[in-house]
Amino acid sequence: MLPKRRRARGSCPGGSAAAAAECPVRFPDVVIHLVESRMGRSRRAFLTRLARSKGFRVLETCSSEVTHVVMEQMSAEEAGRWQECWAAAAPPGCPFPALLDVSWFTDSMTAGQPVPVEQRHRLEVPKPKPEEGPQGPLWLPAYACQRPTPLHHHNTMLSEALETLAEAASFEGSEGRFLSFRRAASVLRALPCPITAPSQLQALPHFGEHSSKVVQELLEHGLCEEVERVRGSERFRTMKLFTQVFGVGVKTADRWYQDGLRSLDDLRQHPRTLTSQQKAGLQYHQDLSCPVQRPDAEALQCLLEVAVGQAQPGATVTLAGGFRRGKLLGHDVDFLISHPTEGREAGLLSTVMQSLQDQGLVLYHQHQPSRCGDSRHLLWQSHTMDAFERSLCILRLLQPQRAAAGSPSGPGPAWKAVRVDLVVAPSSQFAFALLGWTGSQLFERELRRFSRKEKGLWLNSHGLFDPEKRACLPAATEEDIFCHLGLRYLPPEERNA
Ligand code: UTP
Ligand code: MN
Repeated sequence: MLPKRRRARGSCPGGSAAAAAECPVRFPDVVIHLVESRMGRSRRAFLTRLARSKGFRVLETCSSEVTHVVMEQMSAEEAGRWQECWAAAAPPGCPFPALLDVSWFTDSMTAGQPVPVEQRHRLEVPKPKPEEGPQGPLWLPAYACQRPTPLHHHNTMLSEALETLAEAASFEGSEGRFLSFRRAASVLRALPCPITAPSQLQALPHFGEHSSKVVQELLEHGLCEEVERVRGSERFRTMKLFTQVFGVGVKTADRWYQDGLRSLDDLRQHPRTLTSQQKAGLQYHQDLSCPVQRPDAEALQCLLEVAVGQAQPGATVTLAGGFRRGKLLGHDVDFLISHPTEGREAGLLSTVMQSLQDQGLVLYHQHQPSRCGDSRHLLWQSHTMDAFERSLCILRLLQPQRAAAGSPSGPGPAWKAVRVDLVVAPSSQFAFALLGWTGSQLFERELRRFSRKEKGLWLNSHGLFDPEKRACLPAATEEDIFCHLGLRYLPPEERNA
C-alpha cells in the first residue's frame, strides 16, 4: 500500500535522516506522532523519514504539540490504554490529538499532503459505559491515604478542570481554595467509575458548592466557563510559565508579573533579579520544559548506581517521586541514596557529585548540607521541607540513540538537560524518606494530616513521633509505617492522589 522506498527529488532524499531533518515543514498545522508498539522500530523510522521528506512534521515523542497520533495494528483496548496514558500525562487543558489508523497516514503520503480525517481513519476506542458504573451517589473515605488512587482513572476531564482552578488559587496565594479544589480533584481520581450525573457527588468528601458547580457545568455543557476563562487569562498563563522555571516559586513569579514581565525573554533581559538557580533554569529551559521520560530516568539510575557504588560499596540508589508511582513522564527525577550500614552514607554525595562532574555530566548543582542536627521541633512543624543532605542538579543526559547516524529523527542533540534531585537518607530513616519522596504531594499532605488529626502522631520524612509518649516509632519499611497508622498499605502506584 505504501509507495516503495524511493528517492524524493531535490535536496531531500527520503533515505537520508540528516537531510530529511532539514526538509522545510510544509504543513505546520499538522504534527504527527507514530506509535512504535506493533508498528516496530524500523518501519516507524522509515515512515518518519518518508513523511519528513514530504514536508510533514513528525515528533518522536508525543508532546502536547502533536495533533495526529498514528497507530498500526493496535487493538481497540491497546489504543484505549494508550489514550488513557496520554490523558494522564498531558498538561491540563491540552486538547486530545486525533487517534488514527495508519490508513490516514498512507492516504496522506499518497496525496502528498494531509488528507482530511474521515470516520474510517479514526480508531475506535472503547468508551467507558455509564451504565456499567453505579448510578446512585458514590462514596469514598475522606483522606487520600485511605483510598487507592491509580495513575489512570475515569474522570480525567473533570479532575483536570478542578486542578486548573486549584493551580490558579495557588497563584493567588489562596491556600484554602487551592486545597479544596485539589482535594475534590483527587477524589475524582480515586473513583472506580466515571461521574455521569451531579447527583453522584452528593455523598463524596470535599465536594463543596463551587467544585460541584464546576462538575455540573462540565457534565451539562462539556465546558466550564470559569475554567476556560482562567486558562485563557494572561495572569494564569504567565504565572504558569514563570513557576515552571527551575528555582521560581509563586511569590517570585507574582513579583515579576506585578513588574510587568510576561515572557521568558523579559526575564532574560533582567538578569540582575535572577538567582543562580533561576539563571540555570532559564538557560536550560527548553530541555527542562520537555517531560523527562521513563527510559531517561532508568539511564540516570544506571549511571548513578555506578558512581554511588564506586564511592561506597554497598550503597544504594532508589528511584522515588512520580516515576516510582508508575508515571511515564515527569518534570524531574528523584533519587534517594542510602547505605544499609548507618553512617556509611555520610560524605557519599560529594564523592558522587565529583565523579559526575569529572564525567562532564553536571550542568548545574546546588548542594544543601544535612540539617538533621537542627531542632527536631522545627522539623515536625514543617509541611514539606526535610533536613536531608541533598543536591538539586541539572544533569547532562547523553542520548546515544539521538546522536547515532541512522536515528529516525536525524542526528539530534547528543544530550539533553534533565532536573535531578539526589537526597541522602540514613538507613534508620530510609522508609520515612522513601514514603515522603514518593508522593504524590497531596498524598503526603493527606497522610500527615491523617496521622496528626486521626491518630495524634506526627509524621514527616524523618520519622513518626508519638508526642504523648515522646518517642519515635521505628519502621524498616513503608508497610511498617502504614501499619503504625492503622492504614491499609497502598503501593506507590496507588498513591497518585
Ligand atoms: P516532585 O515535586 O518531584 O513531584 O516531588 P513528582 O510527584 O515526582 O512529580 P513530577 O513528575 O516530578 O512533577 C516528589 C515527592 O517528593 C516530595 C514531594 O512532596 C513529593 O511527594 N518532596 C519534594 C519533598 O519531600 N521535599 C522536597 O523538597 C521536594
Ligand atoms: Mn519528581
